[in-house]
Amino acid sequence: MKHQAPRGTRDLLPGEVERWQWAEDRARGVLGRYGYREIRTPMFEEYELFARTSGESSDVVQKEMYRFKDLGDRDLALRPEGTAGVCRAYLEHGLGGKGRIHRLWYMGAMFRYGRPQKGRYRQFSQIGAEVIGTAEPGADVEMIALFVDVFEAWGFGELNVLLNSVGTPESRRAYGDALRGWLDPVASRLSPDSQERLVRNPLRVLDTKHPTDLAILRGEEGGLEVATMPRMLDVLDDESRLHFDGVRRGLDAAGIRYELDHGLVRGLDYYTRTAFEVHDRSLGAQSALGGGGRYDGLIEALGGPATPGVGFSIGLDRAILAIEERGDAAMDSAPAVFVVSMDTTRDAALALVRTLRRSMPAIADLEARGFGAQMKAAGKSGARFMVLLGEDEWQRGEVVVKDLASGEQSNVPASGLSDRLQAAAETIHER
Ligand code: HAM
Repeated sequence: MKHQAPRGTRDLLPGEVERWQWAEDRARGVLGRYGYREIRTPMFEEYELFARTSGESSDVVQKEMYRFKDLGDRDLALRPEGTAGVCRAYLEHGLGGKGRIHRLWYMGAMFRYGRPQKGRYRQFSQIGAEVIGTAEPGADVEMIALFVDVFEAWGFGELNVLLNSVGTPESRRAYGDALRGWLDPVASRLSPDSQERLVRNPLRVLDTKHPTDLAILRGEEGGLEVATMPRMLDVLDDESRLHFDGVRRGLDAAGIRYELDHGLVRGLDYYTRTAFEVHDRSLGAQSALGGGGRYDGLIEALGGPATPGVGFSIGLDRAILAIEERGDAAMDSAPAVFVVSMDTTRDAALALVRTLRRSMPAIADLEARGFGAQMKAAGKSGARFMVLLGEDEWQRGEVVVKDLASGEQSNVPASGLSDRLQAAAETIHER
């Protein structure tokens, strides 16, 4: 019997991993410059933590949870998202007493039992950030700016941020009632899932992935006038409205483009006020690259003092798919130097490559192949420079350096080779 990776999981092989590292490094750079600090929480937590925060009526809890009992009969779940664990850790370690505002970020595997397809996996990775301790609209603006800047560091231009306010639990109830009335004429045609949601939590109907539901919601199946869809902004309480105005003013001042999306409700129940998402058309139905919002009631729901928070997560699998689709060559890393040797200079070549490796990526042939085969391999490797150790040159303390991009070639002293290659690589970079 042949083993396979479990359905919905993937191996990232060399080549792909470099692209992930590129994306992770760039994101880390932005997060660091924003003054965010990394937090690492367990990959599994008590099941109850997620049920109480993501919400019993959310897809994540109802259908997608990797819930299990351990040998000590504890009720646990693999984390479907990161915010609940971060807030649990915030409370458990009394971070609230150790400074007023905490800027945190995390990266790692999340688990949701969905139907696997392109951009949708059962194990996937998120990079996320949270600001805990302030309800000021400025924090929402900083969070959205950070969100946009991570995408910018990955080369996404002209990002269109979808923005809404989901208000307070009370305004959401009022909105739910309005939505129920609006959906009532088509209720019998909705999927059984959505019909049940219509009763329990009508906002969740807007979150449906069912094709017929989606068509009905777009007004394609008749019966619904999309333009008449109730708007959360119309039932928002005064404080949430003021808050939302503040967020919008801040985004305008920062020059961050956004579009109001009245149907944006997010898939998790802990949100209050600001909600945002970014989508990418190249990913089809699984188009959300990332999303987030404010969760002012979450920490209190976990038994802590009333503590506001706002954050986002980006799905790295999806973001990297979109970058690959764009064909960004900057993601592909190749050795800077490929060292080619002869039988008589092979030992010297291995010593030289070790010296080079102190300052740059370098490789040498390990198969004792002929000169020609090695040169071919150097060409294929994507290396910037080929260094040849010919017998005569080596005797004179020289090597041949060939710039594989321009084809230029020259003899240079073997001593100080690293510095010369480094300098050459930098002038190329500046050009
Ligand atoms: P979310 O919208 O559930 O938010 O997930 C964020 C992102 O994770 C999605 O936009 C998507 O890119 C990615 N994602 C979700 N499920 C999958 C999957 N099955 N396969 C691949 N990628 C997936 C949250 O998780 C919140 N914790 C965000 C947040 C942080 N809100 C406040 N702070």
